[in-house]
This record gives sequence, structure tokens and C-alpha cells, in this order.
Amino acid sequence: MSVRILGPVTLCVIATLVGTLFVLVSTESTYAAAACGLVGLLATAVMYDSAVHGGIRGDLPVMSPPPMAPDYAVDLLDRPEIDALIEALPQPAFIVSAGCIARANRATLALLGRHVLGQDVRLAIRHPAVTQHLAGDSAGTEPVSMELVGIGAADQSWELRIAPLSEQRQIVLLTDQSARQAEARMRVDFVANASHELRTPLAGILGFIETLNDREAGNDVATRERFLSIMEGEARRMQRLVDDLMSLSRIEADKFRQPEQSVDLCALAQETAEVLARSGTPRAHDLALDLDLGCPLIRGDSGQISQLLHNLMSNALKYGRPGTPVAVTIQRDGEDAVRLAIADEGDGIAPEHLPRLTERFYRVDSSRSRAMGGTGLGLAIVKHIVERHRGRLRIDSVVGRGTTVSVMLPVPVDPEAPAEQRPRALVGTPVI
Ligand SMILES: Nc1ncnc2c1ncn2[C@@H]1O[C@H](COP(=O)(O)OP(=O)(O)OP(=O)(O)O)[C@@H](O)[C@H]1O
Ligand SMILES: [Mg+2]
Repeated sequence: MSVRILGPVTLCVIATLVGTLFVLVSTESTYAAAACGLVGLLATAVMYDSAVHGGIRGDLPVMSPPPMAPDYAVDLLDRPEIDALIEALPQPAFIVSAGCIARANRATLALLGRHVLGQDVRLAIRHPAVTQHLAGDSAGTEPVSMELVGIGAADQSWELRIAPLSEQRQIVLLTDQSARQAEARMRVDFVANASHELRTPLAGILGFIETLNDREAGNDVATRERFLSIMEGEARRMQRLVDDLMSLSRIEADKFRQPEQSVDLCALAQETAEVLARSGTPRAHDLALDLDLGCPLIRGDSGQISQLLHNLMSNALKYGRPGTPVAVTIQRDGEDAVRLAIADEGDGIAPEHLPRLTERFYRVDSSRSRAMGGTGLGLAIVKHIVERHRGRLRIDSVVGRGTTVSVMLPVPVDPEAPAEQRPRALVGTPVI
């Protein structure tokens, strides 16, 4: 070990010699000189000791203690990092040691119950695949993954991943696949429904073309005109369907882009009522508008808000009883929103249908809706427009009395206003 001892030790030795000589010369006493020399040597020894063992180290750099190396002698399961590690995982994760659940994060305990800690994994998850890959000597050395149902809720499905650790231990991860599978199912259903909706009018049109091609039937003017009019109706139905599908995909594409126009909801409601009347919509004269013209402007997409008003007013006119009014009300809803309500006096909707009304192609009475030229996409479009505008949609209905559809839209936040006076946007509130 190289320790650089600085001058003090050397100085002490010199001082001892000089001091001893001085005492000897001045006192001529050898005892006094010897005593002085001894004291000097003692001081030198103390100084040397403190220099070597950390006392005077001069310009030696100050060293921080070396970091603690992980103690590999400590068992993996006894290391505190293991709990922190599995707890950091968002999904249920646990460690199996010799066929028993040795460590589990909170998500696992919430899913399987607290009692599973220390339990045989075959009891915690009763599945043949678990017995095959996790229990006893059967544990493999390669990672495996498999699909599981029957854990948690009945309709939940999971991906179970097993990765081997050392000494007959495995880490197990459970990933909830239900949302992904529901999404895939929805996509398949959507394509099937859309094809079905298009295939029906298309088959009708092809059938009529075949009949018109027949010399005998095709030459009859009355028959031809009747068939052509039906074909036109079917073709228009297909066109409406394609238009609605296009709108839906455009609205979905803009989902995360907040609309920026200032929109006067009352003016748009008046305009929509006029358009319905001019286009010869049956019962358009039954629309009764009650608008608070002092309502603040909303921030929105005027094309989409017109579409929303059109779809809801059309539904109320279609499904309300003839001769009864359709009340369209717009008023402030507290400090931070404007409320649109469209109420009809119709047959109403049974409660079990209410949660599904905004699904694409969902109809309470399919034949009635189709006979009226409906595509079954009107409320799905309304729901997506409301979502894009960070609003809320609510449908209240009493069978035999009628239906009221309400839309709450947030008024824009004034950036100049003090924080406590700013209206809250209706962000994140559920539709329906
Ligand atoms: N005001 C209402 N009163 C009673 N039932 C309604 C009302 N609004 C909607 N419904 C029911 O909800 C279903 C879905 O409505 P939606 O507007 O999505 O489709 P649609 O009206 O059938 O077709 P489209 O809107 O394309 O013309 C309708 O078929 C109807 O059964
Ligand atoms: Mg509709």
C-alpha cells in the first residue's frame, strides 16, 4: 500500500533531535535529554500511526464505499427485488416454486384470491395445461404460452405465459385477452352485417332486372314502371347505407381531433327542421322547437352536429305516433354545457334494448325499420359524434308513452377566465 506521509512526521523527528540536543547542552543533564528524546519519539510514533491509518492523508482522493454487489448466496425468492419486480407488472404475475405459488403480485391475489399464496398451483388454476407445464417434475425448460378461460369472470379469456427460472421455478404471466377478442368479434360481425344489409337490396334489384329482361313481362308498361320504382327504392337504400358507412368511418377517423368551429346549436336545429320540411319528410310539421336563443356557442363540427340533429329528429318523427308533437328543446345545462332534448310520443323502447341501441345495425324491430328505409346506423353515428365532441348521450323511454333522447355538449373553456370559473369539459363521461 503506498501512503504518502507528509512533512509532519519528518518534522517531528527533526524537532525531537534538536530538542534533545538543546536540553543536553542547556541543562548538561543526560536524564533530562533522554526524557525529552523519549517524549519526541512518542509524538513521532503517534503521528506516524495516524498518517498510516487514516489520520493525515494529505491529497489522497476521497473514495466512496463500493456499491453492494447482489449477494448471490441469497435465494432468489428471498431477494426484496423479486416482489418489487412482479409488482411492477400490470397484469397478474406469480412465481411457482416446486409446484406451489411462492410469490404473487397484487393483481394475481385480486384475481385468484389471497389464499393462493403457498398453494399448489394445480388448485389455484384448475386447468390441464397448468398440470402439464407447472406442476412437479413436468416443468419444461422452454417458455410456453396458451389460451385459458374460466379464470375471473365467465366470459374472460386469458393468455397464460410460463417462463422457466432456475431450480424448478417458473414465472407465470396472465394477460387478459377479452377486449382484443371482443374487438375482433365486433369487426367480423360488422363486416357480416354490412354485407347482409347490402346483399338484400342487391338481390332484389337483380331479380327485377331478370324479370324485365323477360320479353313478356318486360314489355308490360305498368309492370315495368312498378319494378323500376322498386329498383330505385332499393338502389337508394344501398346508397344511404354506403353514405352512412362512410360517415361513420370519417367520424371515427377524427375521433381524437377536437372540433374547432364555433357552432350555434339553436340555428342548426332550426335549419335542420326546415330541411326536413322541404325534403318532404312525413310529419315534419309535427316538430315543435323550444330554443333558448341565449345559449352559448359550442365548439363543434357543424356538419356533424347537423347530422346528429337530422338523425335524432328523423327517429322521433319515424317512431312517434302520427299527429303527436316532437318536442325539440335546447337550453343551458348548468355552467358548463348545453342540453338538446328530442322527445316523441311513440311506442317507446323496452328497457332491455336501451343499452344496445347505439350498436351498428341494431334495431328493435328490424322489419319496421327496414320498411321505413332505415339502415340501423343512425344512433351509432350519433354516439360517435357525441364522443368526438366530448359530450354525453342519454336515452330515456317509457313503453307506450314515448322516448326522449338527450345530448349534453360542453361549452368551450374561456382561457382568460380564472381557473375556478372555467366550466369543466364533459371529458371522459360515458355515452349513455
Ligand atoms: N325515438 C325512437 N322511438 C322508438 N324507437 C326508436 C327511436 N329511435 C330509435 N329507435 C329504435 O332504435 C333502432 C336504431 O335506431 P337507428 O336510428 O340507429 O336506426 P334506424 O332508425 O332503424 O335507421 P336509420 O337511422 O339509418 O334510418 C331503430 O331501429 C328503432 O328500433
Ligand atoms: Mg334512425
